[in-house]
Amino acid sequence: MHSELKVFSDQAPEVLEQHHTDKAAMARVLASAGVRYEQWQANQPLSESPQQDEVIQAYQADIDRLIADEGYQTVDVVSMVPDHPDKAAFRQKFLEEHQHSEDEVRFFVEGQGLFTLHINGKVYEVLCTKGDLISVPANTPHWFDMGPAPRFVAIRLFNNPDGWVANFTGSDIAQRFNRLG
Ligand SMILES: [Fe+2]
Repeated sequence: MHSELKVFSDQAPEVLEQHHTDKAAMARVLASAGVRYEQWQANQPLSESPQQDEVIQAYQADIDRLIADEGYQTVDVVSMVPDHPDKAAFRQKFLEEHQHSEDEVRFFVEGQGLFTLHINGKVYEVLCTKGDLISVPANTPHWFDMGPAPRFVAIRLFNNPDGWVANFTGSDIAQRFNRLG
């Protein structure tokens, strides 16, 4: 699977306004909407089933740069596999439009996930794959789909993990746009 960005009006899910598969173009369009999208490379090959410390060390320079830029306080690593017994519940959790009072920062070490952001009348569907960093700015309405067969390893950065809660907007807009898989 390859990364891609689709842009729609929030009033017209059936009309694809922009479609980008070039990561530099994706970064430009997202930057114009105030969204950070970057490519990171490991400074050393990862082992087959790397532990959290190994994953973080492999991307330490980029992590440190982001912490210096944005003041994030904590870093962790999460993963999901297609045979996880609770995958449907985890998928359901963030499928509807919500926002957080803090940035939602994810770097995809492996696998993929679909972040959809709702900004100034536009809907940005960002399919993130291996090597992609996305930061959903604080208070930006968005939703996230890991798909029916979720698979990813992701680094997360937080201002304050205790304060990271989803505030649902009550809109059903997410149901009119694309799901993953
Ligand atoms: Fe979120």
